[in-house]
Amino acid sequence: MKLIAGNWKMFKGPGETRAFCEAFDPPAGVEAVLCPPFVSLPAAVESGHTIFAQNVHWADDGAFTGEVSAPMLLELGVTGAIVGHSERRQYFGETDETVARRTVAGLEAGLRVIACVAESLEERESGQMDLVLRLQVEAIAEAAGPHEQLLIAYEPVWAIGSGLTATPEQAREVHAFIKSLLDVPVLYGGSVKPENAEELLSQEGVDGALVGGASLDVESFTALCRIAADL
Ligand code: PGA
Repeated sequence: MKLIAGNWKMFKGPGETRAFCEAFDPPAGVEAVLCPPFVSLPAAVESGHTIFAQNVHWADDGAFTGEVSAPMLLELGVTGAIVGHSERRQYFGETDETVARRTVAGLEAGLRVIACVAESLEERESGQMDLVLRLQVEAIAEAAGPHEQLLIAYEPVWAIGSGLTATPEQAREVHAFIKSLLDVPVLYGGSVKPENAEELLSQEGVDGALVGGASLDVESFTALCRIAADL
């Protein structure tokens, strides 16, 4: 079964979250996950849908202003977390080391974890893609191993919010490379929408999608879930 996760990023407060969740009725045959901002998690959990956070800290508690821990998420009914999204790496100083620490803490506490890896366009074009991805995946693999609650999301930075997507062949190749380093399900992310989802999701080794923009609209996210369920 494919997993389709909607990463809402910094969109939708509790009111909009409630409205989305009431209207959202994913088909059987797909694992649909919503990842709202922290403040909207209670409203989302109440809806009964599967809810992941967009980040999780490595400590259970402590003097870490602005962070949220795995036990806090679990208390709320949240069952997983994204870690290491490229926006966290790019704007908030997230490193391979902090991503690994967040991943392990989440898994050990009992959360499912979607750990993100990505190369930039510059890294791809200068032939450094394999090295960059290897370092990112190995940091996670060394810390967590092929844990059954762990997923990787491959989200080429140049394809996020840009309207550009990796070709199905590019996605298949990179997913195979990632799985050769760490044998866990690998989601594809980067401008996934109903128009390109079938082609991407039907590639070998593409176990689902992490969706940004197209997950904000209940109709397009439901359409994506339907496509994944029908494959
Ligand atoms: P996008 O975002 O689907 O808007 O490109 C993907 C992501 O960053 O999760």
